[in-house]
Amino acid sequence: MITSERATFGSKFGAILATAGSAVGLGNIWRFPYMLGANGGAAFLLIYLICVVLLGLPVMISEFYIGKHTHRNAVGAFKEMAPGTKWSLIGYNGVIAAFLILGFYAVVSGWTIEYIIQAFSGTLHGKDAASFQADFEMFSSSTVRPIIWTIAFILLTHVIIISGVKDGIERASKVMMPALFFILIALCIRSVTLPGAEKGLEFFFNPDFSKITSSVVLSAMGQTFFSLSIGMGCLITYASYFNKTTNIQNTALQVTALDTLVSVLAGVMIFPAVFCFGITPTAGPELVFITLPNVFEQLPLGWLWSAVFFVLLALAALTSTISLHEVATAYTHEEFKISRTKAAWLVSAGVMVLGIVSSLSFGVLKDFTIGGLTFFSLLDYVTAKIMLPLGGMFICIYVGYRVDRKILKAELTNEGTLPFYFFNTYAFFMKYIAPIAIAMIFLNELGLINKIVNFFQ
Ligand code: TRP
Repeated sequence: MITSERATFGSKFGAILATAGSAVGLGNIWRFPYMLGANGGAAFLLIYLICVVLLGLPVMISEFYIGKHTHRNAVGAFKEMAPGTKWSLIGYNGVIAAFLILGFYAVVSGWTIEYIIQAFSGTLHGKDAASFQADFEMFSSSTVRPIIWTIAFILLTHVIIISGVKDGIERASKVMMPALFFILIALCIRSVTLPGAEKGLEFFFNPDFSKITSSVVLSAMGQTFFSLSIGMGCLITYASYFNKTTNIQNTALQVTALDTLVSVLAGVMIFPAVFCFGITPTAGPELVFITLPNVFEQLPLGWLWSAVFFVLLALAALTSTISLHEVATAYTHEEFKISRTKAAWLVSAGVMVLGIVSSLSFGVLKDFTIGGLTFFSLLDYVTAKIMLPLGGMFICIYVGYRVDRKILKAELTNEGTLPFYFFNTYAFFMKYIAPIAIAMIFLNELGLINKIVNFFQ
């Protein structure tokens, strides 16, 4: 059911752009390098790439199918396809995940605002690596400023959500994506020509297989879901705005390729600089924020480069926060039959509460931990490593076992007008490979596979 208030994408290109806008964000430029740094370097990259092909593509195509077929939000889609069953839990899992992800994503998005201001005011200039780190820590652990930026970013997302995604986002994405690409390439070139760059490239590209542990595999899988925006109905919601002629197969391939390319470029941009400036690759969430200013310092007109970069990063984050917000707003609006504006306010208010607590978890609430994780890390862990992969697993199981093959094929080939050369491969991956691999990664992390193996020995 499409209501007139509901956003729709203007063109085929717009659909691809908006989906790519959702996928490309802080996940690529902020989360990917720090996860890779903390989880064994190149070994993580390798497993990540395998997960993208084996799990990412099948889940993405399945989500597209569900959204395009039902034209409903993440929960409504399952209510329509399987009324009166528990399958709609997949949708609820997604709506909750949207809140929780926004609860920490908005904080990091807020940091980008701080850096934009610092770039323009010249305070990023003339420091050494140690003071970039100390200053970041002082900023992120302070109480008021990061919270103001977090709330500002949520409000920015809110305004776009209520004023309609149609023109603004599509148009902004058309300029932003190529610009982001250009600046990433330029920074990669600067980074790989820094003294000592080889060490960074080796860390990023040359896998040490002994570093592969169950938690590295779980982290790489989590990163795949997070980066591709899959596993929580975000792409179900976006695909519900696709029109009849949108080519699901091409969209999935292009978005996945673009997203992966941006992550790899981010790695090439970050790691040579990390080693050149003596920063530890395992630094955690601050890695990008303490590494990049050093690179800008090495460029003529460094403040301008950093200003442009952080503006583009903020915009990339914005197209992602919009997609997350939209999942919760579309659900609240359509399932509770309240106006879109009211629904959006409810979502924004909830996210602000979570955002404030996660921001404080870098400062006054640093010692308030659950299972050894701060509130910020807990939100990240629970969503990326548990909720998204579980959601993805059940989406595959649903489409693989409950959907009529003929209907599925008709939707993926636009009623037979498009070829689908890999249909059987896709169906096989979705039915067997993806769910079994995800289940095994979970069992492995819980140590259960070891126990079973030992039991039989
Ligand atoms: N993929 C985005 C990024 O990499 C974040 C994001 C947007 C997301 N929508 C999502 C993550 C849905 C998981 C699910 O920055």
